[in-house]
Amino acid sequence: MPLYQGRPVSLFGTGIYMPEHVLTNHDLEKMVDTSDAWIKERTGISERRIAARDELTSDLALKASIEALRDASIPPEAIDMVLVATNTPDSIFPGVAPKVQGMLDASRAGACDIQSGCTSSVYALAMAASGIASGIWDNVLVIGAEVLSRLVNWKDRNTCVLFGDGAGAAVLGASRDGKNRVIASSLRSDGTKHNLITFLGGLVQYPATHDTIDAGLHHIQMKGNEVFKFANRTLPSFLEDFCRDVDCPVDKIDWWVFHQANWRIIEGVLKRMDVPLEKTIVNLDKYGNTSSASVFVALHEGLQSGKIKRGDLVLTVSFGSGMTYGAILFEV
Ligand code: COA
Repeated sequence: MPLYQGRPVSLFGTGIYMPEHVLTNHDLEKMVDTSDAWIKERTGISERRIAARDELTSDLALKASIEALRDASIPPEAIDMVLVATNTPDSIFPGVAPKVQGMLDASRAGACDIQSGCTSSVYALAMAASGIASGIWDNVLVIGAEVLSRLVNWKDRNTCVLFGDGAGAAVLGASRDGKNRVIASSLRSDGTKHNLITFLGGLVQYPATHDTIDAGLHHIQMKGNEVFKFANRTLPSFLEDFCRDVDCPVDKIDWWVFHQANWRIIEGVLKRMDVPLEKTIVNLDKYGNTSSASVFVALHEGLQSGKIKRGDLVLTVSFGSGMTYGAILFEV
């Protein structure tokens, strides 16, 4: 059963940091053979944020964390674990999480990165909730942060129009009153499709050489259409099964917070499940696909705008490289 047992876990606060620089579809028209109309029609994206040259993933993560801790009214020293969901760490080691833990002076906390494609966000949230429910942690800072712009091939129109940079964070903790609890999660993977979204260069399989650079292995490569089909085919039945298993009828869910990859995927999945489109938070038009950051950012903006209200049932869903996918249900 994907239901959480043990101590109730609550969401105490959220925060985001989006880099200042805006790259519009019209800017991209000057870089590759594309058009604002094509990008909007096929993806729903109008613009995305790009980190400054001196900004690292850890910098974005830190800024989102400070806001989330302030929102939660929890000091850094009360954090037991820092989990950073990212596919674009500053370096393979050290991880982003220890850097953020150090910069925050969260002196009692452990720290680790979670990397599982764009689903890292949901994986990290589920792991944080598991650790709190079991009693080993009281408060966990969970961050999704990406600087994808450094991994994108800006000459490849198939990928460069999709991605953006950004960070979001959430503070989860042992519930103070038993209300507003994380209810259930399900984490899945279909590793037979590991070749659909890749970044292969520079590590064990393909150590960096001039040949790996020439072959484009130091950039994101993606079979976009196959990813599109995978998401549309896999998510509706996965989500329907999940709702049935946790005894939460689909129409009881107030908000669907999807990974912000492509509006047509969100729309297609919701339509197949007969869910009204007004029940989803969408911000991919202004940020593009920020991978592990996207659901944190959408959740934060949904709460800040007053759309998502305390007590609402929220289902957060993601999918990504691996191919991994997952969902987490909670009452905010
Ligand atoms: N501008 C203009 N034309 C483009 C383009 C762009 N930026 N990118 C691709 N095209 C072209 C293709 O070259 C192709 O041309 P061709 O028919 O002459 O070969 C045509 O558009 C159709 O390509 P296709 O890949 O079939 O389009 P699509 O409808 O599947 O849309 C994506 C492409 C990438 C937008 C879509 O497949 C998608 O969003 N996939 C999911 C990607 C994703 O979410 N990845 C992250 C997961 S975490």
